[in-house]
Amino acid sequence: MQAVWIPKHGDGSVLEVRTTPDPSPGEGEVRVRAVRCGLNFAEVSARQGLYPDAPKPPCVVGYEGAGVVDAVGPGVDGLSEGDRVLYLTRFGGHADCVVVPWQQAVVMPDGMTFDEGAALPVNYLTAFHMLFRIARIRAGEKVLVHMAAGGVGTAALQLCRTVDGVTTFGTASAGKHDYVREHGCTHAIDYRTLDYEEEVMKLTDGQGVDVVLDALGGDDWAKGYRLLRSTGMLIIFGMANTNKGGKRRLLHALVQILKVPRKSWLSFLDDNKAVAGVNIGHLWHEREMLREELMALLELYREGAIKPHIHRVVPFSEAKEAFAELEFGHNRGKVLLRPDDSSPDPS
Ligand SMILES: NC(=O)c1ccc[n+]([C@@H]2O[C@H](COP(=O)([O-])OP(=O)(O)OC[C@H]3O[C@@H](n4cnc5c(N)ncnc54)[C@H](OP(=O)(O)O)[C@@H]3O)[C@@H](O)[C@H]2O)c1
Repeated sequence: MQAVWIPKHGDGSVLEVRTTPDPSPGEGEVRVRAVRCGLNFAEVSARQGLYPDAPKPPCVVGYEGAGVVDAVGPGVDGLSEGDRVLYLTRFGGHADCVVVPWQQAVVMPDGMTFDEGAALPVNYLTAFHMLFRIARIRAGEKVLVHMAAGGVGTAALQLCRTVDGVTTFGTASAGKHDYVREHGCTHAIDYRTLDYEEEVMKLTDGQGVDVVLDALGGDDWAKGYRLLRSTGMLIIFGMANTNKGGKRRLLHALVQILKVPRKSWLSFLDDNKAVAGVNIGHLWHEREMLREELMALLELYREGAIKPHIHRVVPFSEAKEAFAELEFGHNRGKVLLRPDDSSPDPS
């Protein structure tokens, strides 16, 4: 099998394609020939050495993909050789051959492309989990979505559109505003030139919002908390502010961590506000919950309510370029990796 390896922490130039023997599926597992692998911000952080959950280098990261089942272990229920599936995997995903527990692979709906299949699991599961399990958004609510043009941001905007009358405020650089509007954003805010806190307050007549989805961290969490109306909820799910284009800047990351507000629990009580954390990578023990959410997402896909947007598909041997798209914030929607020998345009 071929995979994209992180031999040591560093910039994009450290990435290497290596060939190793194919793994075999054990009890309850299936082996998938990957056609597309999803790239996530977490893997950029892993390469930079800023993702504590990642295995130590040399390692292969990657949480998701889509492909065809080519071997089935004993005790597998409902999957057979030849099935077109999308899957979640805890690391090892940037490879053309992946073994996963059968519960983490799902047959793709008719008409779904491998691109869409690989783009869906992490981004849409994260957004769905935050909006529908944690915040339980209701008709007419107001939601602030940061990094709105990114993979999770796009998913969150599309999912908010499935609930009547939800107003979304999306932060994105100005060149991406048409894109975020197209995916459901009611008010696009150029956070690079405007103070988004002031903008949201203006747009809501000083009321604030019901939900803030924030994977920025640092002092943005304090801003998000201030932007909540009474009974609102800030959901924290990442620390993208620790990323500073290209290099592993530990001091910069440390400063961002120090900027995280230190709040007393009593303030939540007095303010009637909630703060929740979401880390899908730490929900692996809740396999049934994730599978149920994934099934709900596939139903929304079948209904035409959601559709992953693919920014770019990059071969393994040029993985550095794929990582750079996320690292330097160029992407709109999802960046995917493909094995060098897979078709650029498979059905
Ligand atoms: N906790 C979880 O379970 C979980 C799951 C998935 C993702 N996440 C987190 O969610 C965040 C978004 O992930 P994603 O995969 O959607 O990211 P993505 O596709 O790479 O989106 C990033 C976009 O956000 C904007 N951005 C704003 N501030 C940025 C910064 N400091 N660094 C880089 N980009 C910045 C950029 O667009 P502009 O041009 O508009 O700046 C960029 O295009 C990440 O922090 C990730 O770690 C968490």
